[in-house]
Amino acid sequence: MLQIGDQFDHFQIRAHLAQGGMSDIYRAYDLLTGQEVVLKIPNRASIGDPAQYERFQRELEVMRTLDHPAIQKGVDSGQFNATPYLVTRLINGESMRDFVQRSAPMPADAALRLVRKIADGLAHCHDHGIIHRDIKPENILITPDGEPIILDFGLALTKSAYRVTYANLSGAAGTPDYMAPEQIEGHRGDVRTDVYALGTMLFELLAGHVPFEGENQMVVMSLHLQGTVPRLDREVPGVTPQLAALVARAMQRDPDRRTPDLPSFIQDLEHPEAVDLAILERVEAAPRALPFWRSQAFVSGLLALVVLLVIVILAFGLQALHK
Ligand SMILES: Nc1ncnc2c1ncn2[C@@H]1O[C@H](COP(=O)(O)OP(=O)(O)OP(=O)(O)O)[C@@H](O)[C@H]1O
Ligand SMILES: [Mg+2]
Repeated sequence: MLQIGDQFDHFQIRAHLAQGGMSDIYRAYDLLTGQEVVLKIPNRASIGDPAQYERFQRELEVMRTLDHPAIQKGVDSGQFNATPYLVTRLINGESMRDFVQRSAPMPADAALRLVRKIADGLAHCHDHGIIHRDIKPENILITPDGEPIILDFGLALTKSAYRVTYANLSGAAGTPDYMAPEQIEGHRGDVRTDVYALGTMLFELLAGHVPFEGENQMVVMSLHLQGTVPRLDREVPGVTPQLAALVARAMQRDPDRRTPDLPSFIQDLEHPEAVDLAILERVEAAPRALPFWRSQAFVSGLLALVVLLVIVILAFGLQALHK
């Protein structure tokens, strides 16, 4: 890890901002331009990974494709002493994680306003064929004026890199709290994957907690796969059934039943009264049954059979020995 005052290429390290899944994030002074920037450098776990340089290049490329006030801007990427790095513009802001901790549950109008701004940024990504796939409060900064900025395109899906599935990177993936069921199942995901994450964040802003909580990540994942979103209007005073339906629609387990894209989600945000309330009554179809060879009865039966066989073989063996 770099120390404050260290020089790294043409940057002087000023502060360690965060430790991410694969990288350390520093505030640094660019000696060439005289500007403060953010440096992302692989952490110990991924420092020798030859793919990291390409990942940063891709992340920069994604940011350069986009131009929106709610999207982090990239500056440069490079390599110094065989260590790849990514440079982004410094944002004066607070992590949305801290903001949520302090402000949620929050009044519906404020939550909707904030989510609308994030949705605008995401719609811009989708318009450019980019799916973020890691939307969560840790990857959003809130400026002192209350403007959200989406960061971390490390998992983003672009047309040119469509093979990067979540499964490939799951070792580095953080919390499953905002992960869509199809991502948990290892699929690539599409615009609806971001809709799901945004719906989950809206739930959290309104309720003060995420919809699916559990002792560990496995429990949380299985709830995303099999659980039904709690009805917000029954839990949180001031949340209308329409708003609860909006969230439930964005969080449908089956992508085909979910709010189909960001423009539709934004339409729902603008006109919650038009969202079909039937979604609140509809209990989603039971999750797919396990194949019979993974059912408990089959496994127990198989075990019993094996034990029986061993006993028979032993008995025969003993008998043969005594002869
Ligand atoms: N431009 C920035 N300005 C201020 N703070 C930033 C900036 N970029 C990142 N940060 C801080 O660093 C944290 C981690 O950044 P980011 O999410 O980009 O990296 P990461 O999670 O480590 O990514 P990866 O998992 O791909 O390694 C953010 O949550 C934020 O607090
Ligand atoms: Mg991150």
